[in-house]
Amino acid sequence: MNVLKRCIYGFSILSLALISVQCKGNQKEEKQENTTQKMDSVSIEKKEYGTTPKGQKVDVYTLKNQKGMEVNIMTYGGIITSLKVPNKAGVSEEVAIGFNNLEQYTKPNPYFGALIGRFGNRIAKGKFTIDGKEYQLAKNNGANALHGGPEGFHRKVWTAEEAKGGDVAILKLKYVSKDMEEGYPGNLTVFVTYTLNNDNSLDVLYEATTDKKTVVNLTQHSYFNLSGDFTKTILGDEIVIDADKLVPVDADLIPTGKLTDVANTPFDFRKPKVIEKDINVKDDQLKKGLGYDHCWVLNNQDKGYRFVASAYNAPSGRLLEVYSDQPGIQLYTGNFLDGTLPMRNGGTYAHRTGLCLETQHYPDSPNQKDFPTTVLNPGENYKTKTTFKFSVK
Ligand code: GLA
Repeated sequence: MNVLKRCIYGFSILSLALISVQCKGNQKEEKQENTTQKMDSVSIEKKEYGTTPKGQKVDVYTLKNQKGMEVNIMTYGGIITSLKVPNKAGVSEEVAIGFNNLEQYTKPNPYFGALIGRFGNRIAKGKFTIDGKEYQLAKNNGANALHGGPEGFHRKVWTAEEAKGGDVAILKLKYVSKDMEEGYPGNLTVFVTYTLNNDNSLDVLYEATTDKKTVVNLTQHSYFNLSGDFTKTILGDEIVIDADKLVPVDADLIPTGKLTDVANTPFDFRKPKVIEKDINVKDDQLKKGLGYDHCWVLNNQDKGYRFVASAYNAPSGRLLEVYSDQPGIQLYTGNFLDGTLPMRNGGTYAHRTGLCLETQHYPDSPNQKDFPTTVLNPGENYKTKTTFKFSVK
């Protein structure tokens, strides 16, 4: 009996020891898993996307975090081809207008998801003067130059470098715009760095240097439809723009040169307001833009990087906040979308099914002496940052 008791006792001790060793082992594994998870809280993956009609190879990078956000960016035009974020039920869905193949992007389209440069927005008559010398740009918007010209940065293949560190996935794109490309002076070396963070924000850092005095105004032209359903319009979205003033435009959407108060106009978005509330009211500026297609003069310009605007889609709960150090933002409500361009899975993008929030300097700045300067001198660093931050409420 005693022998048996001792045996049981001995066996129990041995089992306990074994269990404890195993537990410790598990703890170790768990710890290791946690560390790996932490290191991999974001990921970045490269794939071939296709070849342009000019025979240039294009890659697409997928940046993913652990909060359900996934962004696809291709080297052609630095275009965001897809951006998925969760709704209030935690379901990740597509919220950026895009096509499902490279060929479609290389055909004329209104800058879907693209990086815009060398100069975002319009330059009157495609002309400006630097130090007494007049430069004539390629015209692509009636008599004016728009978004860097017909062969702007949105149609160039950028080189890419990827990086991953801790809680961020980074894609650094580079493009060298040659002296006189699209009519702009100076060899301009441009870097645009997209950083996906683990709080569902995407930073876009723009940097540039030149070897000759030039003008620069870079921006991002993604069309968001926060509902996740591209058959729906964005008219029910609630917008905030932290701006007391607007840059009013003439019939060709060229600034008149004056800055006007938004108070008591359809352009007052200082408090949340749904787009459809005023978009159809009788107003000269709305008539000219065929809706909202204007640059607002952002408040607190001396503060640098700050909250500037937001869009909220109540049914899905998705909120997009925009932070930037730029002086202006163009709200464009997809007024020219006309049901001719194909959606990813059948159907076409109809009128006002996407909205753009393009942080930038005011349009036609090179010809407007009272607007903040867009001139870049040799030896200077152009550096500006915008963040698109997604959440739900
Ligand atoms: C910008 C312009 C608009 C239009 C779109 C693309 O937002 O301001 O007028 O050209 O790009 O269609």
